[in-house]
Amino acid sequence: MAFPANRLRRLRRTETLRTLVRETRLTPESLVYPLFICPGSGIRKEVRSMPGVFNLSVDEAVKEVRETRALGVLSVILFGLPEKKDEVATGAWAEDGIVQRAARAIKNEVRDVVIMGDVCLCEYMSHGHCGIVKATAQSLGAAAAAPPATAEFEIVNDASLELLARTSVSLARAGVDIIAPSDMMDGRVGAIRAALDKAGFENTPILSYAAKFSSGFYGPFREAADSAPQFGDRRSYQMDPANVREAMREIELDIEEGADMIMVKPAMPYLDVIAAARDRFDLPLAAYQVSGEYAMIEAAARNQWIDRERVMMESLLCIRRAGASMILTYYAKEAAKLLG
Ligand code: PBG
Repeated sequence: MAFPANRLRRLRRTETLRTLVRETRLTPESLVYPLFICPGSGIRKEVRSMPGVFNLSVDEAVKEVRETRALGVLSVILFGLPEKKDEVATGAWAEDGIVQRAARAIKNEVRDVVIMGDVCLCEYMSHGHCGIVKATAQSLGAAAAAPPATAEFEIVNDASLELLARTSVSLARAGVDIIAPSDMMDGRVGAIRAALDKAGFENTPILSYAAKFSSGFYGPFREAADSAPQFGDRRSYQMDPANVREAMREIELDIEEGADMIMVKPAMPYLDVIAAARDRFDLPLAAYQVSGEYAMIEAAARNQWIDRERVMMESLLCIRRAGASMILTYYAKEAAKLLG
């Protein structure tokens, strides 16, 4: 039956009515807070392209986690800025690596918080790639000084798996509750699962960045984590932004390899991928509202072109509506304050 019997505006009349019929709700429990841990103590260094986001030393990170947990956010995800970078990502898997130290300190001092550990090598590699780099035949004879062109190097898949597995075990030992690989090497979920099981961590879940796209929206993160590749780009391992069917294959394979939770990243430009994944898979589904999404909102708000709080909350709500059960977002703490 049509108008005038039907009037959809009847249920929009008051905030109480609107709240009663709201289909999607945002809660602090569904937000995960990313933190960038740096060496030193007493350090809170703002990231230039991400106002309100900081590089935090371990002691400051503990404070930040305590405050955020008190606001109802259950989980944080840790990224590390190591003292030194090299060609085998030592800082990623070292027993006293920066994330390992942070995880231990947080576990000691904050009760009942779920610590996720981002597993990737790019922050710890001198070249900034997510796996081991090998010069290909063409470049071997070339002048050593010049940085290799795209065709002249390769990010080797299988050899990188061992380092990712080693990193995962080391993080689990340090008290990380959920292992979250973001490297996009083929087979890494299986390799990490096997290594965790062998080390006695069969109860540690894996949240796979299953559909991670090669995105310009990661720009500010690479400044925050100091992880921009020194040559080439990530297109030979991260996904082509054009592909949603391939995203379903990536997710399916990760589930077969033992992923307990899956992720789509970035979030807002990929809401269709989130919706497709929600429709097709029954695992908990995370979405990452990435650094560029955050930076765009902040920049527009600073120009007074948009209402910051309104757009922040709307962006998060819409990512939930698309089907994400949880959202990794730099707004976690602030959104939780507004929701509380
Ligand atoms: C590591 C990693 C990246 C992000 C999360 N894990 C960067 C990248 O792939 O370049 C991006 C997060 C963000 O932009 O907020 N590989």
